[in-house]
Amino acid sequence: MSKKIPLLDLTAETAALWEELNEAIQGVLREGRFIMGPNVKAFEEECASYFGVKHAVALNSGTDALVLGLAAMDIQPGDEVITTPFTFFATAEAISHFRATPVFVDIDPASFNMRVDQLAERITPKTKAIIPVHLYGQSVDMNPILELADKHGLKVLEDVAQAFGADYQGRKVGALGDAGAFSFFPSKNLGAYGDGGMLITNNDSIADKTRMLRVHGARKKYFNEVVGCNSRLDEIQAAILRVKMRYVDQWNEARRQAAQRYDHLLQAVPEVTAPAAMPFATHVYHQYTIRVPNGQRDAVQTGLKEHGIDTMVYYPVPLHKLPLYLPMNLTILEAERAAAEAISLPMGPYLSPEDQQTVVAALRKVTRV
Ligand SMILES: Cc1ncc(COP(=O)(O)O)c(C=O)c1O
Repeated sequence: MSKKIPLLDLTAETAALWEELNEAIQGVLREGRFIMGPNVKAFEEECASYFGVKHAVALNSGTDALVLGLAAMDIQPGDEVITTPFTFFATAEAISHFRATPVFVDIDPASFNMRVDQLAERITPKTKAIIPVHLYGQSVDMNPILELADKHGLKVLEDVAQAFGADYQGRKVGALGDAGAFSFFPSKNLGAYGDGGMLITNNDSIADKTRMLRVHGARKKYFNEVVGCNSRLDEIQAAILRVKMRYVDQWNEARRQAAQRYDHLLQAVPEVTAPAAMPFATHVYHQYTIRVPNGQRDAVQTGLKEHGIDTMVYYPVPLHKLPLYLPMNLTILEAERAAAEAISLPMGPYLSPEDQQTVVAALRKVTRV
């Protein structure tokens, strides 16, 4: 059997940065401060400066960044928040956490992102916010969303979990709406070696509330004001993220180059559709996701596995078909089609051209059986 190709090779990255990472981790051990220490503070400042925003609040997951972001936007039971059904559950889970209602719009089949032309008709007096999700590392078409939000007084919370460093018309996503929620889950373009997250914003009140909520609703220790939670980023994770952040732009560029190589190689596999790059976006290819039509996707995935190639289906069930939202009884055609056809190929900054050739050669074989 040929060499195994993982979906993402994190060991290649760790090996490349071994000395720097060790130094950073040992620095934390020597300092002896493990919670809310100098690395968290410095990482927040570095993120704020990278995104050109006033505030960056480090948290312990992307999920918490969404939940605390919505809390800071004062989302209440019965409110409606518009989002996409083709995302990780955490996006809608954060909305349901407040017993608010996720209102799902369909996706654009080319980009897999929410259809912005369907938003206006879904706005009701209960609508409070929109969560655009920059899926697979590609920006949603943000201008129509920001215009609508402005017109109707809605908040925009960007789910940037998959798109650290991606651009929309030359501006970094995450900094376009009222706040941006990042995940540093290990497989993300900027990933920790454990859980982590961040909320960025230019809004003083959102930043202040998020900072207070992450430490049990206290602005001053032991003077707790409201029910919050414990959602701090660990000092060791912050130290690791500071090292890795120095490389994130070059890694994103390496992902784009790998994507171009795939685009080229896939011309020899007309059975599948390569991902579309939208003209307004600089994609960071968190995932390189193709479509396999005609009910062949699962067979293709199994066939690739037999060739030693790992793939993933993000996401096999659109959110409106999960048990929590099934009672809504929705049919959302393009999201359902994407859930049946999408498959993500191995991708990452250290993916070699040879491995890509192996992936596509195997894909040719398994699509022709
Ligand atoms: C689109 C999206 N939103 C939210 C999250 C949640 O982030 P986390 O796993 O850090 O809680 C993830 C990733 O896992 C994600 O991909």
